[in-house]
Amino acid sequence: MRMVDIIAQKRNGDKLTEEEIQFFIENYMSDKIPDYQVASLMMAIYFQGMDEEETANLTKYMVQSGDEIDLSKVQGHKVDKHSTGGVGDKMTFIVGPLVAAAGIPVAKMSGRGLGHTGGTIDKLESIPGFDVELSNEQFIKNVNKYKLAVVGQTGNLAPADKKLYALRDVTATVNSIPLIASSIMSKKIASGADSIVLDVKTGSGAFMKSLEDSKKLAKEMVKIGKELNRNTIAVISDMNQPLGYEIGNANEVKEAIEVLQGKNIEDLRELGIELAAHMTVLGGVYSTYAEATERLEQLIQNGKAFEAFRNFIKAQNGDVSVIDDVSKLPTSKFHIEVLATTSGYVHAMDAEAIGTAAMHLGAGRATKDDKINHGVGITLHKKIGDYVAMDEPLVTLHADTESLNQVIDIIRKAFTINEKKVDKNKMIYDVIK
Ligand code: URA
Repeated sequence: MRMVDIIAQKRNGDKLTEEEIQFFIENYMSDKIPDYQVASLMMAIYFQGMDEEETANLTKYMVQSGDEIDLSKVQGHKVDKHSTGGVGDKMTFIVGPLVAAAGIPVAKMSGRGLGHTGGTIDKLESIPGFDVELSNEQFIKNVNKYKLAVVGQTGNLAPADKKLYALRDVTATVNSIPLIASSIMSKKIASGADSIVLDVKTGSGAFMKSLEDSKKLAKEMVKIGKELNRNTIAVISDMNQPLGYEIGNANEVKEAIEVLQGKNIEDLRELGIELAAHMTVLGGVYSTYAEATERLEQLIQNGKAFEAFRNFIKAQNGDVSVIDDVSKLPTSKFHIEVLATTSGYVHAMDAEAIGTAAMHLGAGRATKDDKINHGVGITLHKKIGDYVAMDEPLVTLHADTESLNQVIDIIRKAFTINEKKVDKNKMIYDVIK
């Protein structure tokens, strides 16, 4: 078999066989195929696409390029959740405890963030003492006892994806649905869960800006999951504005705790219940979606979801006094309001720009080695559909510096305010099974 023939085949729009995909991944990983040939194949895939079977095979060999986490010692049906990423996304802190309280084990490996705010692991580190590195044995023990553990990524998961992603990044081939779908699913499948619920974001703050592309990506990932024997469901959710009102690290943890304690922050609660409902049905603890939503609401009302969160933090050495009194979480020196310069209804928000503003404050990393400042961030006061009067605050910036002209400018430009009344945004667009 020769790589040049594989490239030509895909360039001509023909299907690659399983053996050809296996050949290319294995030989690329052992440095027998150079980057320039793989870059050429990525471009051919970008233009010609891949069918379901090819995409599933690509995913399979990316998974096999590294370690697969063995969760066989975790009792019960393991269900994982994955978000394609957005601004203010603190869903793991809401969904994880909810599902754990319902009895589903969640053994989650999460990443650090590059971009707007920290990733799940960075956000958890806002809690003093919280340990993101557990031994394998302790990780399994915690999941069995408390049904929830979240650790930083360990092991060598899907190294072929890492190598391919770096190459795609510099060859303008990231934006291909089969390549994105196989990249995300290879990491999820290697993480060891039995079933997967995907939260595919759509809108101004999402990787996929249009609903049509988000649906295509979701369908592709669901098919890969099924093809590789994982029950997979994708929820397509709104990312035309940040999730909830808090964007940052410690303030996002605080907001998630408030939801777990019963505060009705509508979008967070709706999406949290939706994702948790699919997870608990897939995991077999509830038999219907309707039953699941009702029971999950009860787990918030009766304090069990919050208790599951508290137990999980305590089991990973986090200081629970900050969970019981969130005013003890890290905060910033200054709290500066950005006022509206006109009155009207908020029609649109550039969620990505608001995320970038949070990064400029220090809530996220511009480069891999940047340090996260857990106390800084943004509190939104208005969301799409809300009325704002001139000189009313749009947001509060939590900052450690007072020179914020650039950030204030980004925020003002990120809001589109118009006299005409407008509806609130829809949260869930579709569910792909
Ligand atoms: N996120 C991933 O993990 N992979 C992609 O290809 C794109 C986004």
